[in-house]
Amino acid sequence: SFNLRNRSLLTVQDYTPREFRYLLDLARDLKRAKYARTEQQHLKGKEICLIFEKTSTRTRCAFEVACSDQGANVTYLDPSGSQIGHKESFKDTARVLGRMYDAIEYRGSAQHGVETLARYAGVPVYNGLTDEYHPTQMIADVMTMREHADKPIADIKYAYIGDTRSNMGHSLLIVGCLMGMDVRICGPKSLWPAEEYIKIARELQERSGARLLITDDPKEAVKGVDFIHTDVWVSMGEPKDVWRERIKLLTPYQVNEELMKASGNPQTKFMHCLPAFHDTETTLGKQIAEDYGMSNGLEVTGEVFESEANVAFEQAENRLHTIKALLVATLGD
Ligand code: CP
Ligand code: NVA
Repeated sequence: SFNLRNRSLLTVQDYTPREFRYLLDLARDLKRAKYARTEQQHLKGKEICLIFEKTSTRTRCAFEVACSDQGANVTYLDPSGSQIGHKESFKDTARVLGRMYDAIEYRGSAQHGVETLARYAGVPVYNGLTDEYHPTQMIADVMTMREHADKPIADIKYAYIGDTRSNMGHSLLIVGCLMGMDVRICGPKSLWPAEEYIKIARELQERSGARLLITDDPKEAVKGVDFIHTDVWVSMGEPKDVWRERIKLLTPYQVNEELMKASGNPQTKFMHCLPAFHDTETTLGKQIAEDYGMSNGLEVTGEVFESEANVAFEQAENRLHTIKALLVATLGD
């Protein structure tokens, strides 16, 4: 038997497949209990610190609502709301917050930042997104695929298309290899994950029996898949001047009706961690449409996003249930 008490979650490969599956089962149970209004509180009196050096809607709200449902209290530190990074080191911040809180969530650029917090805080630390990884997102993504696929996790086939040299690219590369799935990672070669991430994936793949294809051909990547994932073409913290080059490189990798059909499977679902660029209703969307003449979405078209195939909002809801599972598993009484 095992338990996850006092464990941090820093990268996608922190947990064994069995531990990951335990979180998925717990998230499913907590989701059912919430719907049935039979949820029990396991985090009464716990204090959780949420540090966001980058902005967030889903991750922040999932942590806050999960804590509220489970009886814990949160402190939210916004991107300018603490000394961390500019005036006080990760190491010192960790030694302060570890004396006040039962756990810490951190979102920012630096993977070494979240790892330093974990090393010195003495309490569990959760990576709420860095430039390298988005591990809490992966629990929700596998949960959502499992809910929709109606088959064992190891039989699920998915493709991730677009900017694969990113937190989401690395994370979807690795999580499927961890869980023994059929994984296709697809984008232009210049935006493929660095060798170190591919190496981690290959090692996991050997143990799990996962299938892994890394390709620059989107039609090949989506053949027979159950799910097509994508993400924004420019991530938070990247300079504005990369837009022009990214649009040029990634336009052939847009998820549109033609690519959805290329899976050959009319049941193929569309997934996106969100926020997504599919219309011109945001300030950024409007600007990109004007500057580059992209008026029907970037990584995904409006048609695909508004179609029945889109399960991204269920994926977003599952952030709540999975983050709650992580908190209950690592801190619950
Ligand atoms: N998917 C995700 O992490 O969304 P937020 O940036 O809104 O937290
Ligand atoms: N790759 C995106 C994910 C946002 C949830 C970013 O880092 O901005």
